[in-house]
This record gives sequence, C-alpha cells and structure tokens, in this order.
Amino acid sequence: MKRNILITGGAGFIGSHVVRLFVNKYPEYNIINLDKLTYAGNLANLKDVENKSNYVFVKADICDFPAILSIFEKYNIDGVIHLAAESHVDRSIKDPFLFAQTNVIGTLSLLQAAKAAWEKSGGDNKLFYHISTDEVYGSLGSEGFFTEETPYDPHSPYSASKASSDHFVKAFHDTYGLSTIISNCSNNYGPYQFPEKLIPLFINNIRNNKPLPVYGKGENVRDWLYVIDHARAIDVIFHRGLPGETYNIGGFNEWKNIDLIRVMIRVTDKLLGRKEGESEKLITYVTDRAGHDLRYAIDSSKLKTRLAWEPSLQFEEGIEKTVQWYLDNQEWLDSVTSGAYQEYYEKMYSV
Ligand code: NAD
Ligand code: TYD
Repeated sequence: MKRNILITGGAGFIGSHVVRLFVNKYPEYNIINLDKLTYAGNLANLKDVENKSNYVFVKADICDFPAILSIFEKYNIDGVIHLAAESHVDRSIKDPFLFAQTNVIGTLSLLQAAKAAWEKSGGDNKLFYHISTDEVYGSLGSEGFFTEETPYDPHSPYSASKASSDHFVKAFHDTYGLSTIISNCSNNYGPYQFPEKLIPLFINNIRNNKPLPVYGKGENVRDWLYVIDHARAIDVIFHRGLPGETYNIGGFNEWKNIDLIRVMIRVTDKLLGRKEGESEKLITYVTDRAGHDLRYAIDSSKLKTRLAWEPSLQFEEGIEKTVQWYLDNQEWLDSVTSGAYQEYYEKMYSV
C-alpha cells in the first residue's frame, strides 16, 4: 500500500537508521525526512539513500507550526515517526529552555498539525508514532526493571522534556482520538552517533590517546541496544503496534559504565594493534554529572510476546562492529568533530 511517511529527525543518529531501513524496505512508501539540521543532524549519514526516488529531504523546524502544517498538506502525510529532539543530557543541564522548546513545543506543534491535517483528510490508517526514552521512568536501585506501567519520574531536564512530550502525545490520543503510539527505548549505540555520547566519544578518545572522562565512580548502569535493532523495533511497532499503546524497547543488556569502558578499551586496543589494556591509563575520573541517574534497565517482554521482536545482535558482536565502524570512518568522525559536516547540506542542495 502507498503511504507518505514523515520521519522527523531523520538526519540524526537513530533517525538516519530508521530512514535507511524504511527507504530500502518499502519502495512503495514515500519517505519524507524532516530535519532542522542542528549540530546533531548530518545528511552525510544518508548518502546511500539520498538519490532514491521514494526519499525526500525537507529542512524545517518542528517548532514552526505553519511550516509543519504546510508540509503535512503538501505531502499528504498519513504516518509520522517522530524522532527529532535535543537528545544529550549534559546539554540539557546547560540549556533546559532549548530542550523544552524542541522536545515539548516541537512535539506539540507536530501533534497539532497531524490533528488538523487528518481531521480534514479523514480516513483510516493514520498513525502518529512518538519515539521516546526509558529515562522518563527515572532511576532504579540495584534491582528491578522499568515496565510500561512504571510511573514517570524524570530527573534531568532532558528526561523531563521527553516525559512532557509523551504526556502530550497521550493527551492527544485521549482528548482528540488521534491515533498514537509511544515507544520508550534504552541507550542506543552503533554507527553515526554524535561523538558527545559515551561510546563514540570514548572510542575516538582511545584512538587519539586522549583522556576518558568517567563521571563519578563509573558505577552507573545503562542498558545498551544496537541502533539497528532499535530501527527494526520501530518498523515492527509502526506496522503492527496498537494505537493508544506504549512499548518498551531494550535488549536486557545492562552494563556498569566502568565495565563497559574496559570492554571498549580491550576491543579498541585489539583492533588498533595495541598491547592489551594499553589504553587503561587514559581512564580519568571526573566530577559526577548533576542528578546522574544510577541505573536504567528495561523490561521489553511486552514487545517480545505481543509483536515477536527480539534483538538480533549479541552485545560482544555489536560493540566490536561499532568500534570497527568508527575506526574505519575516521573521515566521518573528523568532519563531525571539526564541524565541516555542516557544509554538506549547502553543497548537496546548493543553497
Ligand atoms: P540525535 O541528537 O542524534 O538526532 C536528533 C535529530 O533531530 C538531529 O538530526 C537534529 O538535527 C534534529 N532536530 C533537533 N531539533 C530539531 C527541530 N527543532 N526541528 C527539526 N529537527 C530537529 O538524537 P538520537 O540519539 O538519534 O535520538 C533520536 C530520538 O530517539 C530522540 O527523540 C531521543 O529522545 C530518542 N531516544 C534516543 C536514545 C539514544 O540512546 N540516543 C534512546 C532512546 C530514545
Ligand atoms: P550518555 O551517552 O550521555 O547517555 P545517557 O546520559 O543518556 O545515559 O551517557 C551514558 C553514561 O555514561 C551515563 O551514565 C553518563 C556516563 N558518561 C561518562 O561517564 N562520561 C562521559 O563523558 C559521558 C558523555 C557519559
């Protein structure tokens, strides 16, 4: 069936994997990638699909309601996969206004545009699918998992803004009958992640013999999922999830930061031909992040039992592939760390 799907934030880390999957897997769909191209948006992430006939890129800000409304009308959008966001906790601590603006007002503007456009066009088969994070559930002690019933308890400005956007999505479902789904996923890793997040930052620093800034004692626990498995889950949920539902996504793959860092050091040293453990000396304990959540761990059994999704990669394989990718793509890393990647749009679209 022909569909016109708006993917927001498609030039970012997870969004680029979702765009690639949908463009390649569903030639019968039109995929409209809407992105503002902030520091985190990089069209070079999508070089391999940019010339496909079922793909179009639109530069726009999700907070610009009139622009979003006209995009809905122009492309006759019938499905939304909403990933555009400010996504880094440390940045949210420095600039909470920006996070409220993009993540809350931006999501509200998309919801309002979808509601207005779909009230006019009518018909079934509309879906507003909002991509969220497990961080909305707060922090766990050493036991237990987040389920879909865990009450929201966000602590950082990032998670507070995502929690707020989730509540707006639910409010549009309950108040206006908008067909919506939310998924809350654990920490992602893999190719094309901006090197401010733990895994790409540390791989890059190990390679360049730079210090590895471990927050606090490195005792915080995160649950890691390979980004392509997240994109596969998004595909399954978009097509088979039930409107009004929430799905948790995770790989039951918890790591204490310091243990994960040691694995990264071992794998990176091995692939660089260094002596085992040579880069351990780069570990540098620094002041802890303010309000640093101790532990995230997600129970994704609902997704497994109801929609038959499971991660395809074991962590050892995923981390090795990821380190290899960053080592093989030094040019991508250099262009991202130098800011040169931002010229790609100007060159591609001759503006
Ligand atoms: P990212 O920071 O890599 O990408 C975000 C994208 O959104 C960028 O391309 C950016 O240009 C775009 N964007 C930002 N503000 C915009 C605006 N006002 N208008 C239009 N586009 C805008 O983020 P990511 O890590 O790929 O995360 C994508 C989504 O998944 C986010 O909603 C995030 O909350 C969620 N999520 C991320 C993780 C993770 O581990 N990275 C885990 C769970 C959920
Ligand atoms: P991050 O990749 O920023 O993801 P999130 O904060 O959304 O979980 O951080 C992952 C973990 O690594 C988190 O516990 C904070 C920690 N961390 C460091 O110890 N040092 C760093 O330089 C960074 C970026 C993160």
